[in-house]
Amino acid sequence: MKLMVVGGGGREHTIIKKLKENPAVTELYALPGNGGIAADATCVPIGAKEIDRIAAFAKEHAIDYAVVAPDDPLVLGCVDALEAIGVKCFGPRANAAIIEGSKVFSKNLMKKYGIPTAAYETFDDMDAALKYLESAPIPTVIKADGLALGKGVVIAQTLQEAKDAVISMMQDKKFGASGERIVIEEFLEGPEVSVLAFTDGKCLKPMVSSMDHKRAGDGDTGLNTGGMGTVAPNPYYTERIADECMQRIFLPTVAAMNAEGRTFKGCLYFGLMLTKDGPRVIEYNCRFGDPETQVVLPLMESDLLTVMRAVTDETLADTEVKFRDGHACCVVMASEGYPVAYEKGFALDIPAAVHDKVYVAGAKLDADGTLRTDGGRVLGCTAVADTLPDAIKAAYDIVAQVHFDNAYYRHDIGARALRAPEG
Ligand code: AMP
Ligand code: GLY
Repeated sequence: MKLMVVGGGGREHTIIKKLKENPAVTELYALPGNGGIAADATCVPIGAKEIDRIAAFAKEHAIDYAVVAPDDPLVLGCVDALEAIGVKCFGPRANAAIIEGSKVFSKNLMKKYGIPTAAYETFDDMDAALKYLESAPIPTVIKADGLALGKGVVIAQTLQEAKDAVISMMQDKKFGASGERIVIEEFLEGPEVSVLAFTDGKCLKPMVSSMDHKRAGDGDTGLNTGGMGTVAPNPYYTERIADECMQRIFLPTVAAMNAEGRTFKGCLYFGLMLTKDGPRVIEYNCRFGDPETQVVLPLMESDLLTVMRAVTDETLADTEVKFRDGHACCVVMASEGYPVAYEKGFALDIPAAVHDKVYVAGAKLDADGTLRTDGGRVLGCTAVADTLPDAIKAAYDIVAQVHFDNAYYRHDIGARALRAPEG
């Protein structure tokens, strides 16, 4: 089978390594991939947002199956374009990817179908938003409507911060068109959980839960990032809470999308907050999480390609989705200065002994074949073990063996999970 994966980060590297476990895969392309992915797939210099070129490539190379991993191409209709030329895909069509593409859409969906989320108001007029803030409870949360690389969310601790955020989104257009509409919502508190789930629009099968570490610094300090590390499973996500989420959030979301004529097929990501009043949806994503995928897929026992094809063929109900017992920890190694400014181009040394546990996110091969850093998040080191402390220790053992100048990583990935009460 000829496969193609659209995307080029650590998430895509993890998906590619997992897909390759299926012996039916004869050719595997990554568009665009990256220097590290090049060890596992043929990288093709076509950007993930170049929908026409992606479709042309798939046709020319008679691709049998495509996995569209990042949010941008999904929201732009990459799956629709590939299906139109007869290529089977994993990933939602554009009309369903809107669940991530527009926060106004997702909030209205949750309100309409009674799915628990933070109370909110939406605005497309700046003066109305500023006026509303005068009487809104503080802290408050301001969100740009559209995709903003995970940066379009401001937790405002004062009225002034809230007003500044509204002005920067709606007047200064900090996130371009993404901020023309905004959501202002209630500030919630509690442990956060990421749950990725396979759904074919008929049934939904969750993967093992996970915990992201979004802040740049140890002790959850500093700026928000794309994610500095993950552990799975998430110890706050007990069986009782999982059952409640299934009944009150996951299945109602699948049904709501069907009722709207926007059947979602692919990986639906639930960003949840476990508040004292019960679980609430913080965000939906229309794709696998990054770096959640780097801890979830290594724990998956079932064959990924088989499960993905079952989603496409709408036979997920008859397909086993199994995860092993045990724990995984991923520590992201970034460039010093991320997420603001950082230097690139430093040579990477990844010993062969740990190759299969390193997922490369931002690196490229130079003319003489040296792998060099090429992004903020450079790679993730994942270890799997029977206990969480062992998984954390083993992940940091891998970190100690990987070298590049200017490397930065958090030292406390998993520490919060270790403090969780016994479930
Ligand atoms: P999002 O991009 O929607 O996942 O938001 C980024 C982060 O902001 C989340 O992971 C939360 O930590 C935080 N956040 C978002 N919405 C809220 C909220 N209503 N209350 C408290 N924190 C929030
Ligand atoms: N790790 C958060 C995300 O993938 O959106």
